[in-house]
Amino acid sequence: MRLYQELADQLAGLIREGTLKPGDRVPSVREICRERRVSPATAMRAYELLESRGLVETRPRSGYYVSAPARDAAPEPRRARSTARSTRVDVSELVFQLLDAVRDRQVIPLGSAFPSPLLFPWAKLARYLGSSARRMDPWTTVEGLSPGSSELRRQIARRYLRFGTKVSADEIVITSGALEGLNLALSALTRPGDSVAIESPAFYACLQAIETLGLKAVEIPTHPSEGVEVGALAQAIEKHSIRACWFMTSFQNPLGATMPEAKKRELVALLEKHEIPLIEDDVYAELYFGRDRPRPAKAFDSKGFVLNAGSFSKCLAPGYRLGWIAAGRFAQDIQRRKIMTTLSTSIPVQEAIALLLRQDGYDAHLAKLRRILAAQQAAALKSLGSHFPSGFRVTRPAGGYFLWVEFPRGVDALELHRLALEEGIGLAPGPIFSPRREFRNCVRLNCGHPWTAEMEGAVRVLGRICAAKKEG
Ligand SMILES: Cc1ncc(COP(=O)(O)O)c(C=O)c1O
Repeated sequence: MRLYQELADQLAGLIREGTLKPGDRVPSVREICRERRVSPATAMRAYELLESRGLVETRPRSGYYVSAPARDAAPEPRRARSTARSTRVDVSELVFQLLDAVRDRQVIPLGSAFPSPLLFPWAKLARYLGSSARRMDPWTTVEGLSPGSSELRRQIARRYLRFGTKVSADEIVITSGALEGLNLALSALTRPGDSVAIESPAFYACLQAIETLGLKAVEIPTHPSEGVEVGALAQAIEKHSIRACWFMTSFQNPLGATMPEAKKRELVALLEKHEIPLIEDDVYAELYFGRDRPRPAKAFDSKGFVLNAGSFSKCLAPGYRLGWIAAGRFAQDIQRRKIMTTLSTSIPVQEAIALLLRQDGYDAHLAKLRRILAAQQAAALKSLGSHFPSGFRVTRPAGGYFLWVEFPRGVDALELHRLALEEGIGLAPGPIFSPRREFRNCVRLNCGHPWTAEMEGAVRVLGRICAAKKEG
């Protein structure tokens, strides 16, 4: 174990045993350095790790504080224990049912993968769409074909630089949402029958992409707060001929896990050694609750093996279908595949977002969105603590808007999903995140919507159903 992990574990112990209580200020980085005789970098890393576990939070100009009120302190779900196996994928009908339920305004959106559409700056987006369309040079419709608007790619490259990640505008391909970039990447890197390493549990669109391309999934155990187990991945690489990895290194869907930086470095080093590309789905990274945006694995990539996919769908402009992939050494291949499939992403939309990024307001919007999402998560956790029967476990992600709940064994998530839907409540049952339909006692809940009395009521109903199952 590294020094910073040891330090983080010691501080976590003090929090668990109550020596440090919720709301207490924890020693400053300087104090820690003096008392423990460690470097500022070690102390910072330890705090980042505690932050990613949801144990401490930063307050601007004031330092680190112990987070999570005791009232909602259900334990974290257990880490997956299965070993990596290779499986053909057949994505269930349930995913499509779930997407249908999400479209229905009457269904309470705890099962949705989307944040509330009311959290976005529609008036501002409309202004930028209007003014960029009015001033658009008609030649842009030709010049902006794939890889996409040069101004937008430049703005995206500049944002990477702000969090210490060097990405050239030339390696960015603009796509119709991140999902197109992820799918293009997977098709560029694999041939039917190849094996791809994925997280367990994994985002269901990743499973759908694997199924569509006739690939095999090698599931890698994924820690509920610290992401993919790099040791297990190393073993899987020895055993299976893995052609590519598809991972979410920050605010993973569905767990909310964020790999600590040291683990991201370790992952990149392992994959570089074996020359295995990493498709890094990074769509939630702007939605962090801590002080800084978590750096992606792409930040540690010197050889161009990491393909980082981003999007404006979750943080600025849902429905505009604007994303990108920073594809390293695979950029040209992906650009050509984009040309061969859809030619280009809507050019007026690219121009509008490029103008908005250049001119103003994006950071202020993001800061507000993060504050709202953090508050909604706290309210949701409190609600779970009040209404769910004892024995459940839940993650406390340091960003994004998902909670992963593990119920005692007697609760069947598929049945819970069916009964909840009869009451007009959506939820995402665990088995849809696994090719082998595991996680039968788990659900993903969305806390990206205002935490209204209706949401509270829905959690109460879920709690009642679970209590009945536990007793029955
Ligand atoms: C983990 C993850 N990746 C990618 C996407 C798709 O992003 P986009 O809307 O930009 O295509 C989603 C949307 O639900 C997601 O949850």
